[in-house]
Amino acid sequence: MKKKVLVTRAVFDETLAYLAQHFEVASNQADEKYSPAELAVRLKGMDAALISSTDRVDDSLLSRCPGLKAVCSFSVGYNHIDLGACTRHGVMATNTPGVLTDSVADFAVCLTLATCRRLTESEAMLRRGEWKGTHLKELLGMDLHHAAVGICGFGRIGQVIARRLKGFEARILYCTRHRLAPERERELSVAFAAKDELLRQSDIVILILPYTPETHHYIGARELGLMKRSAVLINVARGGVVDDAALIEALKARRIWAAGLDVYENEPKLDPGLLALTNLVLSPHIASASEPTRQAMAMTAARNCVAALTTGDPPNLLNADVLKQKA
Ligand code: DGY
Repeated sequence: MKKKVLVTRAVFDETLAYLAQHFEVASNQADEKYSPAELAVRLKGMDAALISSTDRVDDSLLSRCPGLKAVCSFSVGYNHIDLGACTRHGVMATNTPGVLTDSVADFAVCLTLATCRRLTESEAMLRRGEWKGTHLKELLGMDLHHAAVGICGFGRIGQVIARRLKGFEARILYCTRHRLAPERERELSVAFAAKDELLRQSDIVILILPYTPETHHYIGARELGLMKRSAVLINVARGGVVDDAALIEALKARRIWAAGLDVYENEPKLDPGLLALTNLVLSPHIASASEPTRQAMAMTAARNCVAALTTGDPPNLLNADVLKQKA
């Protein structure tokens, strides 16, 4: 008998066709987000699930799905999965590292430029029919070229952002838990700085660090107070890394100059205070959303799922300790 797999959100036909070669597949092509209670019901009798970053996997869910052997997220971030709970329940958890690195790095540069050059504010003015022709002093922005850019979080994506910014002749500072080897720093032309120093020195701060209890409100009122008044803050990491309420206050008071956000606390609900600000560029968590990259993310999750249920050793396993348990 074929094993059963649930796909919790809409995916590509190719992904479903690939999964169907191996499993009996139930999918949610209508793309309505399941509530935790509904997800538990739909997971009954399933051997594995392809999930998105909008699905919370924790003790409460797993205790209601005893047959589940794997949860394969089509995301690189995995703060929605309680790995300890997965291990306790003997469930393998996987993510999709690598395949979205370049697209997220491209988008980080895109959001930085849009924010520095006031792109959405300019477009809104045009659409309102308020443009009276070019004025020397109108809609003046900031330059990315030759700016001091601080990158917080310097894993795969942070390092590719640094490579992109070399083309803008930016001076790059970075901070991360594990400092790079000196040769790698030289190769990337980047300098390590402690968090507070980076915030003080940077014209632009880009956040691309994982969301964990330690990085909750990594940028709050204190940190915003350390930044230059002319600074720009970009968040392509996760909501919750920035204290949205503190950011709203800082942008209102022009404590920093502008911000660009792709992620929010309490997604998909946005604090109405964000919507009222003109010195803020907003996008709906689309940093990885290029067609080829989203295809690759879905296929990576599907391959993880096939490996989990056949060899029991998926390539992007997040909780390797679960295998020891099974041995
Ligand atoms: C990721 O892969 O983590 C993206 O943010 C999509 O959730």
